[in-house]
Amino acid sequence: KTVHAHSGAADLGPYRHYMQKEIFEQPRAIADTLEGVEGITPELFGDGAYSTFKAIDNVLILACGTSYYSGCVAKYWIEAIAKVPCQVEIASEYRYRESVPNPSTLIVTITQSGETADTLAALRHAQSLGMTHTLTICNVSTSAMVRECKHAYVTRAGAEIGVASTKAFTTQLAGLFLLTLALAQTKGRLSDAEEAAHIKAMRHLPAALQAVLALEPQVMAWAQEFASKENALFLGRGTHYPIALEGALKLKEITYIHAEAYAAGELKHGPLALVTSAMPVVTVAPNDQLLEKLKSNMQEVRARGGVLYVLADGDTKIESSEGINVIRMPEHYGVLSPILHVVPLQLLSYHTACARGTDVDKPRNLAKSVTVE
Ligand code: AGP
Repeated sequence: KTVHAHSGAADLGPYRHYMQKEIFEQPRAIADTLEGVEGITPELFGDGAYSTFKAIDNVLILACGTSYYSGCVAKYWIEAIAKVPCQVEIASEYRYRESVPNPSTLIVTITQSGETADTLAALRHAQSLGMTHTLTICNVSTSAMVRECKHAYVTRAGAEIGVASTKAFTTQLAGLFLLTLALAQTKGRLSDAEEAAHIKAMRHLPAALQAVLALEPQVMAWAQEFASKENALFLGRGTHYPIALEGALKLKEITYIHAEAYAAGELKHGPLALVTSAMPVVTVAPNDQLLEKLKSNMQEVRARGGVLYVLADGDTKIESSEGINVIRMPEHYGVLSPILHVVPLQLLSYHTACARGTDVDKPRNLAKSVTVE
């Protein structure tokens, strides 16, 4: 097991905790993860990836926790851009259930540590069912997962010390977006112009992340209000629904506030009953094609006295008002927007935990890598 030797405070630089340092390392981590990517080619995933991608006609993603949520974002990308059917499963569920194997499946595991017992077991279970096309998005090149998969994209986030995953999540999304494009290209669904536009957008990510990190003071003001809450609801739609799920997990695991996330369209099917002025509702509101729908979900919350905390893209015309707190994202990032919208949610959980005095880097009951089931 690779134990990251770190000399404690000296490693922290100007930061109070590893989690804060790792949140602010994300521009560099993304830049390092995308370094050398001049164009899209299956060979980014290792020798033979082209023939693997030709041979498969569907993708099954297996992961746990935060890594499962990056897989949930990738499902939207892979189906919309590569037009390849994609399912995402929690590894600890897949490994035990009676599933229907399909040998032309690309098994994709996502794991920061590469040592998570459930994810390794799920991979081995899929292999035992005859699924041999395997690929991992992993942050540790010397891990069991990288050794056991046919293909790999090793993210370059650097050692992630904080138990709550941050830079590993955003660099996983970068790797998954490259996989999406490589699959699309192999299937003849990526024009040169589209490839160039996506590469340009990915090159912009480090600067875009820096601009979002500059919102920290506004997020700290929200954290002061969240520190006294006992419950919270996170809402998102489309590729930002998994971002709401990730934001709720971050809040749960380091502040111990009970938080859950819902697809915003699901509100009226139950969770709206939870909404009162005591229940802050965090809403991820990118300026995408679901915005108008999301605005009506927000009105449903306001009508019940719920207090909204909205991450709104610059041009969404969502204004602060009674019961509506808005932090404006610098610009709309298009298809890569989930990578940016998660950052204020990471900062919200971090500063709320600081306000509550919990152990940010080593939250109770949790381990950095769950190497036993
Ligand atoms: C996320 O903040 C947690 N640390 C946890 O959910 C983690 O993502 C999960 O245990 C998976 O770990 P892995 O990515 O190393 O497989």
